[in-house]
Amino acid sequence: MAAQVSGQIATVMQEKRLFPPTAEFSAHARVKSLDEYQALWENAAADPSAFWAALAREELHWFEPFQETLVWNEPDAQWFVGGKTNVSYNCLDRNIEAGLGDRQAIVWEGEPGDQCTFTYAQLHEEVCKFSNCLKQLGIGKGDVVSIYMPMVPELAIAMLACARIGAIHSVIFAGFSAEAIADRNNDANAKIQLTSDAAWRRGKQLPLKAIVDEALEKSSTVQKCVVLKRVGNEVPMQSGRDFWWHELMESASSDCPAEPLDSETPLFILYTSGSTGKPKGIKHTTAGYNLYVKKSFQWVFDHREDDVFWCTADCGWITGHSYIVYGPLSAGATVVMYEGAPNHPDESRFWQIVEKYKVSIFYTAPTAIRAFIKWGDEHVTKHDLSSLRLLGTVGEGINPEAWMWYHKTIGGERCPIVDTWWQTETGGIMMSPLPGAIATKPGSCTKPLPGIIPEIVDEAGDLVDANQGGWLTISQPWPGMLRGIWGDEERYRDVYWSKVPGKYLAGDNARCDEDDYYWIMGRIDDVLNVSGHRLSTIEIESALVSHPLVAESAAVGRPDDLKGDAVAVFVVLRDADPNDDLRKTLKQHVRKEIGALAQPDDIHFTNALPKTRSGKIMRRLLKDIAAGKETVGDTTTLEDYSVLAKLRSDEE
Ligand code: WTA
Repeated sequence: MAAQVSGQIATVMQEKRLFPPTAEFSAHARVKSLDEYQALWENAAADPSAFWAALAREELHWFEPFQETLVWNEPDAQWFVGGKTNVSYNCLDRNIEAGLGDRQAIVWEGEPGDQCTFTYAQLHEEVCKFSNCLKQLGIGKGDVVSIYMPMVPELAIAMLACARIGAIHSVIFAGFSAEAIADRNNDANAKIQLTSDAAWRRGKQLPLKAIVDEALEKSSTVQKCVVLKRVGNEVPMQSGRDFWWHELMESASSDCPAEPLDSETPLFILYTSGSTGKPKGIKHTTAGYNLYVKKSFQWVFDHREDDVFWCTADCGWITGHSYIVYGPLSAGATVVMYEGAPNHPDESRFWQIVEKYKVSIFYTAPTAIRAFIKWGDEHVTKHDLSSLRLLGTVGEGINPEAWMWYHKTIGGERCPIVDTWWQTETGGIMMSPLPGAIATKPGSCTKPLPGIIPEIVDEAGDLVDANQGGWLTISQPWPGMLRGIWGDEERYRDVYWSKVPGKYLAGDNARCDEDDYYWIMGRIDDVLNVSGHRLSTIEIESALVSHPLVAESAAVGRPDDLKGDAVAVFVVLRDADPNDDLRKTLKQHVRKEIGALAQPDDIHFTNALPKTRSGKIMRRLLKDIAAGKETVGDTTTLEDYSVLAKLRSDEE
């Protein structure tokens, strides 16, 4: 098939499958038809301020009503100005007042198999108590609390306690190094550190407290440290600095009214690496973020009262912030929280959890789905997954064949899949099917949420035609948007607002097809320029993954005198031995699927791809390897790649 190449980025993918929701699913859904979705979207687009103002009044508790919906001085947005609310109040008190005190809020399972449950009333009590502990340690409004904890309920409790008293949390994924913690603490001026003695990971203990001890030597602003006993290890405690969580909680009062906070009070900072340079502290604030994660949770996951929602992300990432803690809890949902690895003690752990807790909505990342495929269907099929009614993905594009596997093997061909496109910066989901209303196409995040207006532009900022790839921008402010990069206004302006005047630049390429469905094509920096044609990574990768022997792949450009970029691909096989015949077969396969232009020049077989800690393929790194290994041959092993990846990401 020939590529269409007159615009910015050529599209070579031809995905024609369409999966409408069943009549039964739609009948019970919050948004029941395409017409209903379109009316909602158009209503929002016609007057975004009025749309969001009405929702904010309905969905949030206000200690004092807001006077103005939006004050927009590009790139600075203020939403619901003059109002006072509290995110912890909206997640807890408001639900309890509505009669949900006995509903399960968090159903938790630890990696070793221990479990516990918190109802909304119990969670409220724990959060109030921990809020008082923080206050007792001198923490108040505007102070930054650095959290480096395992996926235990106390992590969510700590976040909600910060929100309750107006402190700002900075959650750092409990897999980062001491150096990374210190950098983030220093950048944020963190005043206190929360951690645990250790964490369980694949049956081993990660010594979190020891890592924190090292980090705190270099974090001069941090004065105190609270340590949760998770595994029960002896750890050295520094007198005057370190406090045990359980000892503080023993004497803490459970009376702690939520602080009425201005709408724009910072709620959290979350560091994200970005494509180059030092991590950016993405800043989110109170009211707009809260409204956006609550509404997007309800729209996209079509939440119903009896749902059991499981998002497998870690609270150290935005997905955990928005769709384990703040979105679902604001909506009064029951969330499952799991501490450990998906393959401990074996590869069926996730499906055991789904069966045991009767999970009805399951939300995970493409990297996990590709691992499930590689591990084999037998781990899935021995469990009863009939409780599932809806599936979701986030974090990377999903290759259509992986989508099909998810649909068939996990979803039993009955569950819609919501492929949700969004970013740390956007706060919540921006594009996704509303599952009762929008038919899905494998590999497409389909359509924007109400109030979100995407536009795809070329480098001059002009709109591109249907099916032409270009830069994805958002043309109107939305309540969940970032409010800046912590301590670096100039970088905020520069990264997101300078290249395309008047619009938020997401940093991804995308195209919109003839049915107004959006397809994310990868990061702007990852585009391949082959003989003057700009190709997206995901399309080449998806073509490879559609071959039955391929588990996953990454495509990068290798500098080439003639072509500009030659196409270099890294391939992880499912159950096959790499050899030259297979190399030929795969080249032909890509040629047949998407055309000669995209046919790989180099195929590197490997046992694993280097990934970021949140599971995204690190193409930048592979680009270096593709260029550097040219003369050495192409059968470098997994260990080389992953070790190299690890070394480099550790330097972050
Ligand atoms: C990518 C995660 C394709 C994209 C919530 C984005 C996706 C970056 C999708 C943000 C998707 C996320 N399809 N690509 N459904 N979801 N991405 O900040 O490149 O960890 O810009 O936020 O992940 O990653 P972040």
